Amino acid sequence: MKRQTIGVIMNGVTGRMGLNQHLMRSIVAIREEGGVDLGNGTTLMPEPVLIGRNREKLASIADRVGFPWSTDLDAVLADAKNEIYFDALTTDLRFEGVRKAIAAGKHIYCEKPVASTVADAYALYRLAEEAGVKHGVVQDKLFLPGLLKLKGLIDAGFFGDILSVRGEFGYWVFTGGDPVEGGDGALLQRPSWNYRKEDGGGIILDMLCHWRYVLDNLFGGVNSVSCRGTTHIPKRWDEQGNAYAATADDAAYATFELANGVIAQFNSSWAVRVRRDDLLTLQVDGTRGSAVAGLRQCRIQPADCTPRAVWNPDIPQPIDFWAGWTLVDEEKPTGNGFKAQWELFLRHVATGSPFQWNLREGAKGVQLAELGIESWRKRCWIDVPELSEVVG
Ligand SMILES: NC(=O)c1ccc[n+]([C@@H]2O[C@H](COP(=O)([O-])OP(=O)(O)OC[C@H]3O[C@@H](n4cnc5c(N)ncnc54)[C@H](O)[C@@H]3O)[C@@H](O)[C@H]2O)c1
Repeated sequence: MKRQTIGVIMNGVTGRMGLNQHLMRSIVAIREEGGVDLGNGTTLMPEPVLIGRNREKLASIADRVGFPWSTDLDAVLADAKNEIYFDALTTDLRFEGVRKAIAAGKHIYCEKPVASTVADAYALYRLAEEAGVKHGVVQDKLFLPGLLKLKGLIDAGFFGDILSVRGEFGYWVFTGGDPVEGGDGALLQRPSWNYRKEDGGGIILDMLCHWRYVLDNLFGGVNSVSCRGTTHIPKRWDEQGNAYAATADDAAYATFELANGVIAQFNSSWAVRVRRDDLLTLQVDGTRGSAVAGLRQCRIQPADCTPRAVWNPDIPQPIDFWAGWTLVDEEKPTGNGFKAQWELFLRHVATGSPFQWNLREGAKGVQLAELGIESWRKRCWIDVPELSEVVG
């Protein structure tokens, strides 16, 4: 096997996603496996350089993994051996970092949302195309084992005609803060900027980006959206324990009409307690069967196993509805979804192999989020036009 290397600038590795999913579970894991097999007798080894603002935090991560680091983005962009720029900064900072990297001729891989507005997101797509660089956006839910099983069922025609899709996403995000001051005293599990509009937060921008590519790739193009956002919890405490006003939406109740007539409903909430199989479940009902997918597992109920439910509140429920579902077997174990998409992107850059999840697809996610917010503001259904019609 020949060995080839590729320099990857990784910006935002002190953050939750940058560190856990992208650095440790993707790039470090790929390196530990000996690189990406390019299928032509060559393996490709990513050589990361870690970028950030905080010298101590960066140095301590870099020491742990043995990679070089810098706080000078311009300098690493000027180095020709760094061919890829990866960005997992907070959403409001993405546009500037990606724009700079495109101008420096780097291939782009970045987290979603691609930008805070569809105009900015589409501008990045156009800039990348004009510069002739390769580009990709994280669409991790498509690589979840549970959703891969769902896709297998769709492709095999298991559902007959698909009627509806119901997505339930969310969990309780603790407020932090001293109980004496009204806080819950718990450790935060998400960064506080998520709950401040002025810092790029909000669940609609965060989650409708995901639902767009899940719908587009599994169920069909989105024709229109109706969305009601809200801020259920108006006061939270930040990483330093200071109280702040939660100015961003922390729940969204959205319905989508797909071009093929399927109705999809997604509840997304950081203020909900979980009584379901997983933090995200997708129920698909079809004429010939139904399925419920979580992050890893997927359960089915074919039409001939459908219990004959009869409404009678005067007797205890005679049917165990949870029992009438069968687990879909794992055909081959799939690894971390972020890593799987990294491998495809690295191969795409090195060999030109297909990679469909580009900045244009990312911009479509931001478009749906923006239209969701417009629907909430206007209290009405909004049609989803072709991206090029709105941003030319
Ligand atoms: N694909 C997914 O499932 C998924 C899940 C969660 C978050 N995300 C996205 O990933 C991105 C990062 O989210 P996160 O949860 O890791 O956030 P985070 O707050 O944990 O990390 C943000 C990173 O940005 C850096 N940063 C913040 N302000 C900065 C500034 N002024 N200058 C330079 N660097 C700055 C931080 O140091 C940190 O490295 C967001 O865009 C978010 O929407 C994606």
